Amino acid sequence: MKQTFHLPAETTLKPKDRVAYINARLIDPESGLDEKGVLVTEGEKILEFGAKVKAPTGAEIVDCKGHVLCPGLIDIQVHFREPGQEHKETLHTGSKSAVAGGITLVVCQPNTKPVLDSVQVLEFLKARAKETSYCHIRAYAAISQGMKGEQLSDMVQLKNTGIVVGFTDDGLPVMNSLLMRRAFEYARELDLPIAQHAEDLVLSNKGCINEGAVSTKLGVPGIPNVSESVCVARDLQLLEAFGGQYHVLHVSTKEVVELIRAARKKGLNVTGEASPHHFTLTDKAVLEHGTNAKMNPPLRSEADRLALIEGLQDGTITAIATDHAPHDPESKNQPLASATFGIVGVEFMLPLSLALFHQKKLSLRDVLAKMTYQAADIIKEKTGRLKKGARADLTLIDLNSSWTIKNSNLHSKSKNSPFDGTSTKGRAIRTVVSGKTVYTYT
Ligand code: DOR
Repeated sequence: MKQTFHLPAETTLKPKDRVAYINARLIDPESGLDEKGVLVTEGEKILEFGAKVKAPTGAEIVDCKGHVLCPGLIDIQVHFREPGQEHKETLHTGSKSAVAGGITLVVCQPNTKPVLDSVQVLEFLKARAKETSYCHIRAYAAISQGMKGEQLSDMVQLKNTGIVVGFTDDGLPVMNSLLMRRAFEYARELDLPIAQHAEDLVLSNKGCINEGAVSTKLGVPGIPNVSESVCVARDLQLLEAFGGQYHVLHVSTKEVVELIRAARKKGLNVTGEASPHHFTLTDKAVLEHGTNAKMNPPLRSEADRLALIEGLQDGTITAIATDHAPHDPESKNQPLASATFGIVGVEFMLPLSLALFHQKKLSLRDVLAKMTYQAADIIKEKTGRLKKGARADLTLIDLNSSWTIKNSNLHSKSKNSPFDGTSTKGRAIRTVVSGKTVYTYT
């Protein structure tokens, strides 16, 4: 199999250039469209699409051979480590891995060095993204200065950079309830979400994997489920009292699925995302993969895994996001207790999520919805749908292509994942960013 990559900046697409994607199975998760047809792009935009559309004369033809053509996938939680930890990942290598996974837009987390808490650092990120990234880059800015949990960052100015789609101290929770109240109040006025890495650090008590039979067997300290749910329960109280929009990053426990379900029923503006590793694996994976199965929040029990799938099924969990967290071998080749938390994920978000479709747990429309418009809606981006005149971000998917994940072949700079050797079915075979083909797999 051959893979090709092109940076958008390298391609010579002109504003009037047309590309016709013929013989496509067009799927738009938002409208429910699922039909054979043609999609035509003009420059960076979608011109038209549908069963009756014909390829215009002079257009470049891409034969989709019956494969699924859908809105470009969105991953609303990645760590691309720039600035400051370029030995682990860069916008260039992270986005290369992302487009190989069919992803056209990512949201970077603020726990960089320095932290994304100032206009200068965000402007730097914007400029680097323009020069070096294969896909669109957005960012969560830090809630607190330096992510120290003490002083609020200047949220108004940070939003004005145009790259910020929400606020979080991800990597760390906001433990200070008054600071969290203020964050809700400011973000409410800015109409952006507050996203929480939900954890009560006191309850986590330096745990390194899930608290349960596996942590007991290995003799390492565990992180109990309640560490996550106590934090979400407090935040929901604050949300109810002060308003705003609340998003729970990487939900890992059945208790939090239940809390979000109940809060949504009550009408609160809350969403949650699930990461493929949490709905695919349990803490038993630590026995086989060691520190490559260590992340925060940790892999949990089978009951938690099943609750996440139920949450995805009934709409409690509206997005799938990877928490792509690359780390170098020095950070990972350590005892379990001292190794760094985190695993990579952008390159196989789609295949691991498509497993839910192949196992008949979710419809194809629902799986794709959680990585397209529903993810976009959380961060208030007007993308993730097939629409005339919309930016042409597209993913072509072969639902049956089989691929065995090999860590050493991933395009990320780091190779830390517990999925080495895992067989998957379905993958991206072409990724189009603003009308430009940035990736093909042939
Ligand atoms: O496992 C994790 N790694 N969880 C986080 O919240 C942060 C991330 C990282 O930055 O490595």
